[in-house]
Amino acid sequence: MRDLRQLVSHMTIQEKLAQLSQLSGEAWNGGKLMGIRYGVTLDPALVRMAGSLLGASGAKTVRDIQTEHLKTHRHGIPLLFMTDVIHGYRTIFPSPLGMACSFDPAMVRESARIAALEASVSGLQVTFSPMADLVRDARWGRVVESTGEDPWLNALYARAFVEGYQNAPLDAGGVLACCVKHFAGYGAAEAGRDYNTTEIGDYQLRDSYLPAYRAALDAGARMVMTAFNALNGVPCTGNRWLFTDLLRGEWGFDGVAITDCTAVYELVNHGFCADNADAAAATLNAGVDIEMVSDTFFTHGERLLAEGRITMEAVDSAVLRVLRLKDEMGLFDNPYGHADEASEAALHLCPAHRETARALARRSMVLLKNDGGTLPIRDGETFAVLGPYADSRHMLDIWHCEGREEECVSLAEALAGRDGVTVLPCCPVNADGTSPAVPDAALDALLVKAAACDKLVLALGEHPSMSAEAGSRACLDLPEPQMRLLRKACVLGKPVAVVVFSGRPLALTEAHGLAQALLQAWFPGTEGGNALADLLLGRASPSGRLTMSFPHSVGQLPLYYNHLPTGRPKHGRNDPERFRSRYIDAPNEPLYPFGYGLTYASFAYGGVTLSASVMAAGETITASASVTNTGTVAAIEVVQLYLRDMAGSYARPVRMLKGFDAVTLAAGETREVRFTVDADMLKYHTPTGYQAEAGGFIAFIGPDAATENGAVFTLLG
Ligand code: NOJ
Repeated sequence: MRDLRQLVSHMTIQEKLAQLSQLSGEAWNGGKLMGIRYGVTLDPALVRMAGSLLGASGAKTVRDIQTEHLKTHRHGIPLLFMTDVIHGYRTIFPSPLGMACSFDPAMVRESARIAALEASVSGLQVTFSPMADLVRDARWGRVVESTGEDPWLNALYARAFVEGYQNAPLDAGGVLACCVKHFAGYGAAEAGRDYNTTEIGDYQLRDSYLPAYRAALDAGARMVMTAFNALNGVPCTGNRWLFTDLLRGEWGFDGVAITDCTAVYELVNHGFCADNADAAAATLNAGVDIEMVSDTFFTHGERLLAEGRITMEAVDSAVLRVLRLKDEMGLFDNPYGHADEASEAALHLCPAHRETARALARRSMVLLKNDGGTLPIRDGETFAVLGPYADSRHMLDIWHCEGREEECVSLAEALAGRDGVTVLPCCPVNADGTSPAVPDAALDALLVKAAACDKLVLALGEHPSMSAEAGSRACLDLPEPQMRLLRKACVLGKPVAVVVFSGRPLALTEAHGLAQALLQAWFPGTEGGNALADLLLGRASPSGRLTMSFPHSVGQLPLYYNHLPTGRPKHGRNDPERFRSRYIDAPNEPLYPFGYGLTYASFAYGGVTLSASVMAAGETITASASVTNTGTVAAIEVVQLYLRDMAGSYARPVRMLKGFDAVTLAAGETREVRFTVDADMLKYHTPTGYQAEAGGFIAFIGPDAATENGAVFTLLG
């Protein structure tokens, strides 16, 4: 074992503070800051001694930087290389929100393993993933990076990501250490506006927001990133309760905590710190170790120590945690990690990785509507593909790491070998989210050509830049030129299928009313076009299920299925009573609920049967329902188990997903799908601890969160 404490004891204050500083690759090269203090010149000593770099990757680049760095570092402490490998490194999988709709954690784990393999040969050691933020408001652009609105499912996916990235000891090849983010509650940004403040009560925080971060840590994530937001008045980056009391104290986390990008400087803007020195002290004293892309520790640390505003003990502990991570990654013995150009050439975008990307993209797409069997397009049918995504390689969201648009397969390319396809690109969206007006005459001319086909496929949506960080939107409609195209297309009298590319649930109410079919494609990644063609042409049936509710209108947001009950619930869609918790101008229900998604088959559910109607402490019961494929093709049905706790010390959500089983059923096949219900599923953070409370419950089994197919049982005290 390397004696890291001894190493720390030989380091100067500046050397220690530099270990706690992360520079961008750009800053390392140019000596200047990026982010909100873009262009500010850095102390050359900090550049020389910095502990880690953000965003520098590629085997040759990393080897060169590390070689240069080690030439001058007095103790030979290697740099750590970190970046945002969010859903693939060079081979890009669907955006996390899309991946989550696969309801297939094993596939998600495999995507993370592949991402780690490609990234590790390019010299990276740490990924800023998974993003375990719970999201309830589709206005927030970063919903694209999340796995959705369900705490239990998010926890399952957080674990799957960590297991995929950290699939072997950290010094082995093909592994990335994980940094779970953004701690905590970033997804609750008020009004869906990025970087905005959050108010989350203790019950909601513990029961809904924290479980997914915790799951990532329980799975072994080595790092935690602070969130930009203030949580109940205290910015997360300087939040001692969050990082010291909860994370390190109550949860026993002993890994590395890092700020988000420039978040230390932002403590001043938050009105929480008077100046950058104050912000450095608040961050270190909160229990955070590394500042990302800022220089406050290095610039002010020595003075803060002299003034007793931070302690050497706290600095040493932080440095030790950083050095331990470097040691665990094997960098002291092999500072280049697994960076290797020959392996990059062999592994990046190799056929096996592309095949997994295609399979996962297929599983991520959600069929929202399919009247009259509009989809799939059958052999011999002709069809026109129109819209901005008809022949576009905008298949990647903005977190595409080293993925390149030119390496993506567009829909037109994927359909190229098929007879009877007419591709008519139109209505482009600019990267700033604006959509140039398209003259009616131009649309009409395209539609004349389209009208000669049996069916129309409209490939519509947002530009990738309209979601992700700083991609909040107040209006979630499809761009107006695209809607005009759709309105015109729908009067031709031909079946119209709309494919929606987006990073978030859009308000598709009008499109739903107009088109015969709707298929949500998300940003599907490198193999997006091929995956889409597989589904459109019926080579596979869609099987994705929504992990975020789709609103009728923006005014319903935040919207999520697992809300707490109200004292005046609305009884069904058509309840005429005014004095209910309702809108007078919109339904309460979503356009498409959580868990929803169609296939090319259809399924019928039998009633829920329980093995017992009473469950004593320590016992389990089985809840089951028969599921029959009443269609004519085989398909995957994601059978879902929801529980409702009828009365508790705190009011409990009206539904809580607690299990699912993705079963493949042949046409006409019936299967009895069983779930074991145990007391762990009934536990929550009560006023007196994490426990199940005796009383009545309902177990629902159905195709989505709106199911009424349930049976009642009682948990004994
Ligand atoms: C800011 C983002 O909020 C965070 O998610 C990301 O990891 C960092 N930038 C680094 O790129």
